[in-house]
Amino acid sequence: MEILRCSHLKKSYGSGSGKVTALNDVSFSLERGSFTAIVGASGSGKSTLLHMLGGVDRPTSGNIYIEDTDISTLKPEQLAAFRRRKVGLVYQFYNLIPTLNVRKNILLPVLLDNQKPDEKRFQQLTEALGLTERLSHLPSELSGGQQQRVAIARSLIYHPAILLADEPTGNLDRKNSQETIELLKLSNQRYGQTILLITHDEKTALEADRIITLEDGKIVHDEVTG
Ligand SMILES: Nc1ncnc2c1ncn2[C@@H]1O[C@H](COP(=O)(O)OP(=O)(O)O)[C@@H](O)[C@H]1O
Ligand SMILES: [Mg+2]
Repeated sequence: MEILRCSHLKKSYGSGSGKVTALNDVSFSLERGSFTAIVGASGSGKSTLLHMLGGVDRPTSGNIYIEDTDISTLKPEQLAAFRRRKVGLVYQFYNLIPTLNVRKNILLPVLLDNQKPDEKRFQQLTEALGLTERLSHLPSELSGGQQQRVAIARSLIYHPAILLADEPTGNLDRKNSQETIELLKLSNQRYGQTILLITHDEKTALEADRIITLEDGKIVHDEVTG
């Protein structure tokens, strides 16, 4: 079953002679429970694509459906709420709130929604990610690998329809990178979490079941791996 579909996505920045076309007619869909990698040279449009799919920014034209919602029809406040509940976002530099402890960082999407935390979900995630001893620490008191695990826990707290990760291991050493990818795979294999992962590392891309290659804002390869 399809969980995400984008059709004829275009994104341009600037205008006139300074105009850059970052995405040029990108269409594809993702099956529920799939693990897909996006690869491509720097500047090929990978981050732009993720921002469009995650509702962080809007495309110049084209449509994005997530679980049958056309996100281009949502008003800004609706889009913000949709993003909090349905899309998990993980970035290279963690994007944690420095003044909030680990527990509050993980629960942030829920607290912003004025919802009561699902303590069982919280406990499951923090145990699986090895964070139970760190819940009252500030991000600055954690290693890079631990900070990224907090960001992953935050992205998964709501059972999102899709987890979007942009070079999540780009700032980590090899051991922490491997662990982070293993945790993403575990959430995919054990819990059926749908994942779209940007990476420039071929070995990491091979962990996915499908690899989409971008070049100059277009899909040039789309292959199912082993
Ligand atoms: N906010 C922006 N303003 C202007 N140009 C941008 C902006 N964001 C990205 N671009 C341009 O769009 C193209 C694609 O960028 P990006 O999606 O960041 O590529 P990647 O993540 O694959 O390195 C690049 O040419 C980049 O310079
Ligand atoms: Mg990028």
